[in-house]
Amino acid sequence: MKEFIKQLPKAELHLHIEGSLEPELMFKLAKKNSIEIPYKTVEEVKEAYNFTNLQSFLDIYYAGAKVLITKEDFYALTWDYILKCKENNIIHAEIFFDPQTHTQRGIAFKTVISGIKEALVDAKKEFGISSEIIMCFLRHLSEKEAFETLEQSLDFKEDIIGVGLDSSELGNPPKKFEKVFNKAKEYGYKLVAHAGEEADVSYINEALNLLHIERIDHGVQAIHSETLMQRLKEKQIPLTVCPNSNIELKVFDSYKEHNIKKLLDYGLNITVNSDDPAYFKGYLNQNFFNLIENLPLEKKDIITLVKNSFKASFLSEELKNEYL
Ligand code: HPA
Ligand code: ZN
Repeated sequence: MKEFIKQLPKAELHLHIEGSLEPELMFKLAKKNSIEIPYKTVEEVKEAYNFTNLQSFLDIYYAGAKVLITKEDFYALTWDYILKCKENNIIHAEIFFDPQTHTQRGIAFKTVISGIKEALVDAKKEFGISSEIIMCFLRHLSEKEAFETLEQSLDFKEDIIGVGLDSSELGNPPKKFEKVFNKAKEYGYKLVAHAGEEADVSYINEALNLLHIERIDHGVQAIHSETLMQRLKEKQIPLTVCPNSNIELKVFDSYKEHNIKKLLDYGLNITVNSDDPAYFKGYLNQNFFNLIENLPLEKKDIITLVKNSFKASFLSEELKNEYL
């Protein structure tokens, strides 16, 4: 089964590029850019990656991102992820980045997006890997700051397919960004949002009803509402589920308790993704391996999950048909 998973061409739809920053590159960039990081060795970093919830991860994730300064740094970060795509047989990736994590430190929007974009252009040239970029608003920041970020993005609109919403979920419900998302839609952006990772189903309902998103990131809490489950099934609204992330951030106590098989058996459009693989112990294939080792997933389930990753993507209908 592992060999079968490895050789399947896959799409990844929930991947934060800042979450693919491996400790080795973090040290290299910290040294080059004279940025202090609170670790002496790679082992020390790995010990620090011991999370109790989403916020305990975010604190460390934002601290790590401070080593990224130049366009070349963002290129190196993205290129390293592309090499992992090659290893994991990911042939299409829709990549999140958090502009505010960088602009708040005085790094220009252009520096960030151009480093990421150049690596993705090279990925297409070198390996034939296709990709899209989605920019996420940090939901712990204000609506005003999200609007400023939306306006800044317009100069780079041809490189950004959509907008998303991430960071601290509890206490920052989707409705806080209703106006921003409506404006983003007017500008022609596709819309996704993290919802129902830690917070309850009301966040998923709001994301659908007020933000009008096309895809839900995480969404595993949907299981607690029969009405919502019916709606997700009927409309085949995709959920980008991230198993390793859910275990590392204690959304579920163990892989055996993860609800992905239940969501899939109900008939929802479920995909498997790695979220922040450098922090959550593994890239996409490892997420699948952890699932098959702990849940009664059959070969046909794996095929469905992988087909869903293309169906749920923002690829053209023509390209989807080619991959499916
Ligand atoms: N949830 C919220 N914010 C994030 C995540 C996540 O899983 N990963 C990176 N930022
Ligand atoms: Zn995420």
